Amino acid sequence: MKVTVHRKAHFNAAHRLFNKSWSDEKNLEVFGKCSNPNYHGHNYELVVSVTGDIDQETGMVIDLKILQKMVYEKIECEFDHKNLNLDVVYFHDKNPTAENIAVVIWNILRKELSDIFELEITLYETPRNFVTYKG
Ligand code: NI
Repeated sequence: MKVTVHRKAHFNAAHRLFNKSWSDEKNLEVFGKCSNPNYHGHNYELVVSVTGDIDQETGMVIDLKILQKMVYEKIECEFDHKNLNLDVVYFHDKNPTAENIAVVIWNILRKELSDIFELEITLYETPRNFVTYKG
């Protein structure tokens, strides 16, 4: 019997979406306001979802204290109040779209979690725009 445990987290970060081989006009056409050359911020809402069996000794899938600490140290501390393009190494050669941020977060947390768990990332860039990734 599989149960999913969710941990919500939050970070504020700046980004610019652009393709450096395109003109400013084409970048504006494709990425809109998100291509602003001087960057802009989003209030990202993150949901980390861990699925597994209920441990018979503890009654838990995963200890939420451990999940909370992992998400805080590996994601919130690394991403909060950062310029994603300039400050976060994963985006030096990758556009920091919600899609790519979700994949980066999944890859970081996947390494931290035991193979017995399934992992899904939900990332809200705005209250109405969000992406999911589960590997
Ligand atoms: Ni944006």
